[in-house]
Amino acid sequence: LFVNVSEASARKIPDTVFGIFFEEINHAGAGGLWAELVSNRGFEAGGPNTPSNIDPWSILGDESSLIVSTDRSSCFDRNKVALKMEVLCDSGGANKCPVGGVGIYNPGFWGMNIEQAKTYKVVLFVRSLGPINVSVSLTGSNGFQTLATANIVAADVSNWTKMEVLLEARSTDHRSRLQLTTTTKGVIWFDQVSVMPLDTYKGHGFRNDLFSMLQDLRPAFIRFPGGCFVEGEWLRNAFRWKETIGPWEERPGHFGDVWDYWTDDGMGHFEFLQLAEDLGALPVWVFNNGISHNDEVDTSSVFPFVQEILDGLEFAKGDAKSKWGSVRAALGHPEPFDLRYVAIGNEDCGKKNYRGNYLKFYSAINQSYPDIKMISNCDGTSKLLDHPAHLFDYHVYENANVIFSQSHKFDHTPRDGPKVFVSEYAVTGNDSGTGSLLAALAEAAFLIGVEKNSDVVEMASYAPLFVNTNDRRWNPDAIVFDSSQVYGTPSYWMQHFFKESNGATLLNSTLQPNPSNSLIASAIQWKSTVDNKTYLRVKVVNFGSTAVALKISVSGLGQNSTESLVSTKTELTSSNVMDENSFVNPKKVVPFKTLLDTVGEVMDVVLSPHSLTS
Ligand code: AHR
Repeated sequence: LFVNVSEASARKIPDTVFGIFFEEINHAGAGGLWAELVSNRGFEAGGPNTPSNIDPWSILGDESSLIVSTDRSSCFDRNKVALKMEVLCDSGGANKCPVGGVGIYNPGFWGMNIEQAKTYKVVLFVRSLGPINVSVSLTGSNGFQTLATANIVAADVSNWTKMEVLLEARSTDHRSRLQLTTTTKGVIWFDQVSVMPLDTYKGHGFRNDLFSMLQDLRPAFIRFPGGCFVEGEWLRNAFRWKETIGPWEERPGHFGDVWDYWTDDGMGHFEFLQLAEDLGALPVWVFNNGISHNDEVDTSSVFPFVQEILDGLEFAKGDAKSKWGSVRAALGHPEPFDLRYVAIGNEDCGKKNYRGNYLKFYSAINQSYPDIKMISNCDGTSKLLDHPAHLFDYHVYENANVIFSQSHKFDHTPRDGPKVFVSEYAVTGNDSGTGSLLAALAEAAFLIGVEKNSDVVEMASYAPLFVNTNDRRWNPDAIVFDSSQVYGTPSYWMQHFFKESNGATLLNSTLQPNPSNSLIASAIQWKSTVDNKTYLRVKVVNFGSTAVALKISVSGLGQNSTESLVSTKTELTSSNVMDENSFVNPKKVVPFKTLLDTVGEVMDVVLSPHSLTS
């Protein structure tokens, strides 16, 4: 491999290329990054008509002691369903309540992770015709072991009343549940029952362990909140930003009908912008353009959708005195968010009204926010688009060989048109398993192609990002978790090899010879902000099944500069190309660092079979 460090052959990689894509899929947010532990906190998941299903809430008691139903008596206008509990038993007398009382419990998202010495804030809304005495407890998965408990006692809650309790856990159980029980006869209504750990990232509501997995990638941008989630199977179930801001208990929530689960929209428009800011990543907002999988708004009637998006932009970017900027400021963020990119729809290019609707959004946004870059859904990789756009989306899900060969996909993309945003890429099908080394290697090769074509590819993100292993709606995914554990698939770890690339200098590099074209390589140089030293990083994918002895010759270095050459080799490989990580063995396929034997202008490196080396 010949690497030329001279300035003449170098080109700056944009600061924006390697980022992430967060979609509410696989419980990435609800039951994932969003730390809310109660599933279906507002009893709305069973639909707006009552009586309704309260799943996953369950009843503690039998028909002689308790009748549980739902009605539409909530104090919240946008989510009217409340839970009604008619307690027939009492603390004494003929119909005495069982020990521990009767009531309801919520198992969270396949168990709540309650940890010893940590504090949990329980918030609930309650109403009753008489005095109440309710035990609020975090218990083990079978309900027997009490991890923390407190009593809510009130003489008069004839109007809906907000109650807050802090519970400190005395032991740990990763599959805990919340129980609300009583031994007092009467009628009680509950609504908007929440359990949040106090310990979330900066108190912003993000689960710490999952947040750090993202932070460790140092993403330049975060695309959100979908994907198909943004479109909906039907427009009535699409993500509507105005329904997702403000106090959590007032949000209506919605049924994400593409991925087939309810979300309380705890992660709403504000939280996504906040997440981007917390990650130091540029937000890329994908919005619905009046098109779902099955229905569309005619271009002649799309204006309310356009206005909704203009309002959402003002919410993000307007000053604190503007109508929507003041709403943001009241939510605790007076400074505008740094929103510079929006995507007009998702995968809608072929739809009947796409171009018409797109142009309405494009011109309205361009007029009000000329600094915003707009992303079209139409593929411009081989010919120029027939409509104005700053970038266009390119999505690719294919087998490993196809993704590997797509490292040349952008070599001939027109350089005089919009830039490419590879907003979704992944190896899928048999080659990926639930996250194989093979998939990661093909994707690494693809990203090396992205890096080499970063004069035209401005952004790239893997998809999907997260999966709660209890409800896998898409396979594979970069980060796998349950209530308390998390690991990265090889595709997650592969992305670590590109962390320094944003804003780095791409060097000229040539592979000669390249037996059976199974190698692909790139070289970058960057100055570390930590020690102010200049580093050179060569990345090579060996997609073949035999080891390769690679000679790396570096030319164009200044005098005495070999001292500063990086002397480590980091490899992502394993004994079997289909190897995966798991909760039992989360580090089976992770980058492994060793010292290089030779350091200088010429270096000999052995590339393991099926490996990514840098
Ligand atoms: O990443 C999963 C899905 O794949 C996205 O929602 C969609 O954009 C694509 O079809």
